Amino acid sequence: MIIINKRNLFFLISVWLLSTLLSAQNVTISTPHTQLLLSVPNGGTPEQLYYGSRTSDADIRSICETARRRNAYPVYGMGYPCETALSVRHADGNLTLQMAVIGVKETRLTKENATLTVIELKDKVYPFFVNICYKAWQDADVIETWTEIRHEEKKPVQLQQFASAYLPVRRGNVWLSHLSGAWANEGQLCQEALQPGMKVIKNTDGVRNSQSAHAEVMFSLDGKPQENTGRVIGAALCYSGNYKLRIDTQEDDWHHFLAGINEENSWYNLKKEEVFRTPALALTYSDEGMSGCSRKFHQWARLHKLANGNTPRKILLNSWEGVYFDINEQGMDQMMGDIAAMGGELFVMDDGWFGDKYPRKNDSYALGDWTVDKTKLPGGLQSLLDNARKHGIRFGIWLEPEMANTKSELYEKHPEWIIKAPEREVVCARGGTQVVLDLSNPQVQDFIVQTVDELMNSYPDIDYIKWDANASIMNYGSYYLPKDRQSHLYIEYHKGLNNVLERIRTKYPHLLMQACASGGSRVNYGLLPYFGEFWTSDNTDAYQRIYMQWGVSNFYPAIAMASHVSADKNHQTGRRTPLKFRFDVAMSGRLGMEMQPKDMTDGDKEFAKRAIKAYKEIRPIVQHGDLYRLVSPYDKVGFASLMYATPEKDKAVFFAYRMEYLLNQVTPRVRMTGLDPDKQYKLIDMTPLKENKKNFLDGKVLSGKLLLEEGVEVPFSGEYSSVVMQLIEVK
Ligand code: GLA
Repeated sequence: MIIINKRNLFFLISVWLLSTLLSAQNVTISTPHTQLLLSVPNGGTPEQLYYGSRTSDADIRSICETARRRNAYPVYGMGYPCETALSVRHADGNLTLQMAVIGVKETRLTKENATLTVIELKDKVYPFFVNICYKAWQDADVIETWTEIRHEEKKPVQLQQFASAYLPVRRGNVWLSHLSGAWANEGQLCQEALQPGMKVIKNTDGVRNSQSAHAEVMFSLDGKPQENTGRVIGAALCYSGNYKLRIDTQEDDWHHFLAGINEENSWYNLKKEEVFRTPALALTYSDEGMSGCSRKFHQWARLHKLANGNTPRKILLNSWEGVYFDINEQGMDQMMGDIAAMGGELFVMDDGWFGDKYPRKNDSYALGDWTVDKTKLPGGLQSLLDNARKHGIRFGIWLEPEMANTKSELYEKHPEWIIKAPEREVVCARGGTQVVLDLSNPQVQDFIVQTVDELMNSYPDIDYIKWDANASIMNYGSYYLPKDRQSHLYIEYHKGLNNVLERIRTKYPHLLMQACASGGSRVNYGLLPYFGEFWTSDNTDAYQRIYMQWGVSNFYPAIAMASHVSADKNHQTGRRTPLKFRFDVAMSGRLGMEMQPKDMTDGDKEFAKRAIKAYKEIRPIVQHGDLYRLVSPYDKVGFASLMYATPEKDKAVFFAYRMEYLLNQVTPRVRMTGLDPDKQYKLIDMTPLKENKKNFLDGKVLSGKLLLEEGVEVPFSGEYSSVVMQLIEVK
């Protein structure tokens, strides 16, 4: 019998009140200018009510009363006959899930300047748990969301679909922008109106994930995408391995967007109490068009996602297109001397420097044998480092640590370290002998960390590593993983890679590493926390780079986008373009050179020297400023244009490139963006062909209002002409 007295009546009322409050609980997740609103009733389904710009408390209340709700993380099997984020096979064979809210936790991550909101869910019958996590940055408009999945069932539960996140996008005239491409033509911007049906963007390479499609998208909510107007949601999956983005549009009012690891051939047997954490999906929102959305990604990347995102990047010369495998001490010294004389700050010795028993004379040998080829470099790395110091520049080196050649001492010693199914023959990639090491194996992870450790311990002056990865998983199977975990290989590979990179980054926090993978195959936010930049493409043709860099700039900041001036004629396309054009294109990213300086004329060297000096002046604006894309090369109006401005809007750099040259062609004026209408700006031609032959805009002082509203006539002159103008506020 329960006796009700005053004390326990008060207690009972409090419990009732609390549970009523909880059952109607709404959660608001905010960044400085964006907000995500969820309803999380205790014992009920978590639902999403709103994602957009930050609103007032009154508007939040109105949204709660009027918004249409969508399940925040739809699971398979009970009352949800659509594309789901999560589906499993329980230990007893049951294929259904029914998740209900059991708690909400909010934590302030003071050190990181973020808040973490965790919605805790439990299956109504099974001891199966999912946490939906939201990390909202307080100094960048990005919310990262992922899930943590675990269970207490007696035997493993098989995860069959395990998306990181689900986002409902209300139907209207919604357009999708995403990147596609191929080797040497990466980062092509594709835009389409979303139609009924299923759009899938995915990767199955196993090792690299952005040579063709990318794991980033934008949804333009107000019709055909515009650069500087309209509401846009951006999403980037922070993962380095196989991914799958699904946009399902069927009979209802929503585009159902799901993003996560590609589960194909990767079903995961989750042990009791093991936590499976999905990679984060980074979400952002802007009402300033696609460029606005890009600026949000860029700011977040520089502050939180890019290794040393606030350190200016050095201007470098990379040896690859200059000498390819023909490395020798004297040649390296000459290249270092030449780049130093032109004002460069770093020299990177690319492939071809290693191998003892199997010297790396071409791409068939020696991957895995990271010892100096003494025939090519009798003085070893020390002598190169000494020479770099003599020239007053820093030294960097190329490695491809995740790989081996079957013609290597490493493979002879450890044939079981490569990725291959035990009963199958070896399938080789590049050079007819390249194989991928099995990074699910902790011994292989240790070997890679040791390789970098030995290099850095012996030569602590090494300033930069170009980390390459030139093969896919062609031969599925692991000697290391047990039979019931073979299907984990794709996932374990990337866990292993992250582990290796985490150890290296912790030990060498200031070492700049470039993520290269046959060019731009590793442009993803899964790896960027360990790298300071990526190699945008093996194609260095300035003209084609305009398309690629434009595409990639949608999601990645200029500071991370390695962009090198290469030879005339270009080695990949055979195109001939003026040196100025090649510099002007490379200067809109992280400037470098990739050619043999000894083949340059004195005039070219003199121009390069001036261009490098100019880049040093605009480097802070390009590498740390705000990007405004103005005229898209994809719009085919004969030219392309973009600019960067400081947040204070006191300085900017304007770039324009002639994409098509026809006599008496009409070229519209370009209206700038990102300036202050009330300021006056002086225009300076940064890369004139001759020092005393500047274009007609040079020296003019124009108001921000005029530049924004009327724009400027671009001083083009002939085929492949280009312009780099700095704008400085005049007080
Ligand atoms: C890959 C890279 C190139 C170069 C070569 C060296 O293709 O993308 O930049 O480093 O390997 O073999």
